[in-house]
Amino acid sequence: MCGIVGFVGKREASPILVEGLSKLEYRGYDSAGVAIIEEGDIKISKCKGRLAMLEEKLKEAPLSGAIGIGHTRWATHGEPSDLNSHPHANECGSITVVHNGIIENYLHLREWLSSKGYKFFSETDTEVIPNLVDYYYKGDLVEAVMKAVTKMEGSYAIGVITKNEPDKVVAVRKDSPLIVGLGEGEYFIASDIPAVLNHTRDIYLLNDKEFVVLTKDGVQILSEEGEEIKKEIYHVTWNADAAEKGGYEDFMLKEIHEQPKAIKDTMSSRIIPGQPISLDKINITKEELNGIDRIYIVACGTAYHAGIVGKYVIEKLAKIPVEVDIASEFRYREPIINERTLIIVISQSGETADTLAVLRESKKKDCRVIAVTNVVGSSISREADDVLYTWAGPEIAVASTKAYVTQLIAMYIIGLHFAEIKETMSKADMELIKEEMLKLPEKAEETLSHKETLQKFASKTYMHKDMFFLGRGIDYAVAMEGSLKLKEISYVHSEAYAGGELKHGPIALIEKGTIVITTLTQGFLFDKMVSNIKEVVTRGAKVMAIAFEGNNVIEKIVDSAIYIPKTLDILSPILSVIPQQLLAYYMAKQKGCDVDKPRNLAKSVTVE
Ligand code: M6R
Repeated sequence: MCGIVGFVGKREASPILVEGLSKLEYRGYDSAGVAIIEEGDIKISKCKGRLAMLEEKLKEAPLSGAIGIGHTRWATHGEPSDLNSHPHANECGSITVVHNGIIENYLHLREWLSSKGYKFFSETDTEVIPNLVDYYYKGDLVEAVMKAVTKMEGSYAIGVITKNEPDKVVAVRKDSPLIVGLGEGEYFIASDIPAVLNHTRDIYLLNDKEFVVLTKDGVQILSEEGEEIKKEIYHVTWNADAAEKGGYEDFMLKEIHEQPKAIKDTMSSRIIPGQPISLDKINITKEELNGIDRIYIVACGTAYHAGIVGKYVIEKLAKIPVEVDIASEFRYREPIINERTLIIVISQSGETADTLAVLRESKKKDCRVIAVTNVVGSSISREADDVLYTWAGPEIAVASTKAYVTQLIAMYIIGLHFAEIKETMSKADMELIKEEMLKLPEKAEETLSHKETLQKFASKTYMHKDMFFLGRGIDYAVAMEGSLKLKEISYVHSEAYAGGELKHGPIALIEKGTIVITTLTQGFLFDKMVSNIKEVVTRGAKVMAIAFEGNNVIEKIVDSAIYIPKTLDILSPILSVIPQQLLAYYMAKQKGCDVDKPRNLAKSVTVE
């Protein structure tokens, strides 16, 4: 996720672009840059770091001109660096682009353009765009951009300028947001409305594959066939704060709703039906994998819970024994690890002190370390031998939601990749999992529709001091995450138990009115879970059950049932966690808690 802006008018573009970017920093902040048309030439200023660094740079070497584009980056392809920062240009600097999204076929395009003599300098996917536009440029920027996008697969919102037509900005979007701001003799493009609200409240909301041409005389919107489109003006009546949250009350709720996209992005270009899993930065050979006799997944908090799901997945698919451990425990318990042990560390931030310490200790003991992280260029990503990035975009709320589901996707991708290398699965079974995974974004979207039931359940139960989460197998792993979400944002004490463990102690706590959240998605464990539910219902518990659609039989025994779309049992965590996140959210809201910044917690725990 990145933020883009563009401006055409009579005023100085540079401060307007920077101010717009400051409203988009929530979309990414590892580097920033602007390109301005200055006396018929394009001048670029960009650097790694927060926007403030760019502002300093511009103070020292100001750029002057009334047309420009700008970018604030959340790295996906290529670490945060001056070179990888946007804007990106073709070799001679005549065409310059800012981009938000992922060009999935960039490697193919890069190869093709290289064969035609084009040169590349950064590690980004974006750099193919100015070169593609250059390839098609025959004196008409709009036409060249239109031709270039026919070759681009993936998601994009782009702003393009050329010194050959120094009066315009051309922009287009597909699966990444883009709006147009309509001022008095000045026009804007931006990834989100807050970036233009200081200048105008009149907006065009663009649809996919609509092309925009901004000049100081006005805005033209064209279809991909080149026909002019008339759009209605949307007048913004709300304030900028609300808009940064995309109209949601809190970042957490916004991030819960971003999960379908985060899941899709993390699978993008890695899972393609009929093709082997493609992993950019994991290079493990068959020989190396055969030399591994055990995997340890080590992490903290939510990432640790993703690791527990990872154990089920990797053992089932790739038939390699997996242990999961909490980083702060692992690092002090002298684990027996050596060159035959593969360590997988999971960390959203890539900076968690205990997880980083495990990585370093493991490397000292000759283990190969794979990192699963959301932050390109983080310490963990730099020090690991191999990296699998989750492309969740910046997670602002302290309680992790979209990072968790993308960490789960990473576990499936690693499991499938290892299964392919070790040939532990039939091709048909492998393809079935891939096909079902590709349906998950849509099913996650459907799962978000249970808000009303969850809100109602929360409003009746939020005063309770204790709750239980029950599940068996992989459902138990997700129950742990559901329980953590509830604890951290609503301050309600809760425990997750494996269904079969109940009668070994915890059932003593069940009494009239105790709240129990159960998940039953594993077909072969369904009846056993039903028995566990009956055990707590008999003792007076109030039960909410999460199950696949079609299992209506449970309605007869529980107080509230949430049905999630059917998928393969092994993939259920991606969907079953969503109602648990929403329940925690609504409980916290009922109690008036600050869900984005829960007490005593920090987003990134960089100390022991
Ligand atoms: O950045 P990391 O994934 O390494 O962070 C690990 C935990 O601190 C984190 O998951 C924490 O448990 C969250 N607050 C959970 O919502």
